[in-house]
Amino acid sequence: MSTLHPELARILLSEADIQARVNELAAAISSAYAPDDHLYLVGILKGAFIFLADLARRITLPHTVDFMAVSSYGKGARSGEVRLVMDVREPIEGKHVIIVEDIVDSGQTLSYLYKTLASRGPASLRTCTFVRKERDNLEVPVHYLGFNIPDVWVVGYGLDYADKHRTLPYIAELKPEVYQQKV
Ligand code: PRP
Repeated sequence: MSTLHPELARILLSEADIQARVNELAAAISSAYAPDDHLYLVGILKGAFIFLADLARRITLPHTVDFMAVSSYGKGARSGEVRLVMDVREPIEGKHVIIVEDIVDSGQTLSYLYKTLASRGPASLRTCTFVRKERDNLEVPVHYLGFNIPDVWVVGYGLDYADKHRTLPYIAELKPEVYQQKV
């Protein structure tokens, strides 16, 4: 195995762990709807693009892939302070929508997206996130979850630090001194 990048403390989820869990999530989603239901998968840019690519290719139901992008006014901002940067391409009314995220941290992004899409009258609306920080104050339902992770800065499998490490095939913990020196 190649040497870990010096900014990384340890691998939290290996590539094999990740791929096995994606298979399980795709199987769970594929069996949770009627066989002729058409899913509308909405990946949240940028972080979800890798997870969505893996997940969508393993879902056996017919599906459409679309994307949204949001920006938040800084981490720790009050709930609701999220701005829509790019919307889905089609109306979602009457569709079986699944929001696909890489990570839920404070939950404010997913909460905003859930409320926004729920107001448009989808046939169903579920959420799927690959990792979730262990918190007990999440207001938004997470229907499909890959892993709970500790409250540390994680990178890889779509997750970044200043746009670095996003395409690593595993999820690793960033050394605290890497981000602490920048604040
Ligand atoms: C990350 C992640 C989620 C959000 C979760 O996006 O992809 O969308 O933060 O955080 P929250 O639960 O505290 O709202 P980020 O803003 O880092 O943008 P990126 O995906 O483009 O890197």
